[in-house]
Amino acid sequence: STTYNVVLLPGDGIGPEVISEAQKVLELVSKKSADFDIKLTPYHFGGAGIDAAGKPLPDDTLAACKAADAILFGAVGGPKWGFGKVRPEQGLLSLRKELDLYANIRPALFPSESLLGHSPLKPEIAKGTEFIVVRELVKGLYFGDRKEADLDTPGSEGDAYDTMVYNKNDVQRITRLAAHLALQQNPPAKIHSIDKANVLATSRLWRRVVQETIDTEFKGLEVDHSLVDSVAMTMVSNPRKLNGIILTENMFGDILSDESSVIPGSLGLLPSASLSGVPDGKTRCNGLYEPIHGSAPDIAGQGIANPVGTILSAAMLLRYSLCQPKAAEAIEAAVRKVLDSQDVGGHGLRTADLGGKVSTSEIGAKIVEELEKLL
Ligand code: NAD
Ligand code: IPM
Ligand code: MN
Repeated sequence: STTYNVVLLPGDGIGPEVISEAQKVLELVSKKSADFDIKLTPYHFGGAGIDAAGKPLPDDTLAACKAADAILFGAVGGPKWGFGKVRPEQGLLSLRKELDLYANIRPALFPSESLLGHSPLKPEIAKGTEFIVVRELVKGLYFGDRKEADLDTPGSEGDAYDTMVYNKNDVQRITRLAAHLALQQNPPAKIHSIDKANVLATSRLWRRVVQETIDTEFKGLEVDHSLVDSVAMTMVSNPRKLNGIILTENMFGDILSDESSVIPGSLGLLPSASLSGVPDGKTRCNGLYEPIHGSAPDIAGQGIANPVGTILSAAMLLRYSLCQPKAAEAIEAAVRKVLDSQDVGGHGLRTADLGGKVSTSEIGAKIVEELEKLL
């Protein structure tokens, strides 16, 4: 049988807590499968990389990530390392760049309908929301020329800048990927391209290239264009209007995807895949999988973080990088089962972010128990 090598990057804060639950899920999938094994190997990354090797992306970590079939990542960052010269977050940015993970796919779906009552939005507004954020991940403000302000030299003006750069090819390739995802739905999903074309040159390029790519290569697909500020409002007032694919640049996608987590009710629920090619479910795609949340220093070490986003990221890993859709669907079904079940207090088997009292490892164990029945 085939052995798949998966690198684990637990990182910092709640990263190791949520990764260890997803690890149990992948170990069970490996044990139960007749035709493949998954070998999981942890490496230092982020603040843990700085502590162990003096840099957030140590050389052996990068080499292992390059050689791996897929990467499962928790989160990086925290007050211990701050925002100084060497930052945990730089490791994540370098890794995305090194592996050319240009497409970040962040589905905002209800992992379970039973969460409707927990959404801070009225159920009739949240119900039926189903969109996927496709975020460009290796260009834009994150990677352009940058200057730090000098505030310590007397007389210095203290100017700082970040530069946002996109070219035609950057926009074309992410548009093609979004179009392929749209075509995988039946009927094909609508593409909502989001920009700030009333101000930014990069956005005017974005809008034109998105439209031309769809017109010339994907005739018949529907695409519309909106400004990011008004979309931020629509996302929480009428989110179903955005159903389909949200296609946007790096920073807008970062902000809008955190906002999207308000709809199902917690940042801890949502998974993501960062890919370097089009996921068609048949050809194995290089990828890094992570929950969309960060290291949550405010709750780290308490064993109360929600591991669902990370476990659903492991499902995306099986689907896109290992082409094992059945195992992916089984994980998603097990998560749904656990979120749907009610305990005596009526809070369900849920972590504190969803109003429950269940710990990270208890919810992980329950998901493993349900998965055992489905595999
Ligand atoms: P955060 O996402 O870590 O936390 C925001 C809020 O959501 C916090 O109140 C936190 O407790 C809660 N939360 C997040 N994940 C949760 C989970 N799984 N279960 C329950 N509650 C959860 O964002 P932040 O506090 O702004 O950032 C903290 C650090 O994380 C920063 O250093 C930031 O750079 C880093 N960060 C890293 C990543 C990543 O590694 N991909 C993503 C975002 C932020
Ligand atoms: C995310 C995070 C990262 C980002 C940070 C930690 C660099 O917020 O994965 O969403 O902004 O992309
Ligand atoms: Mn983010």
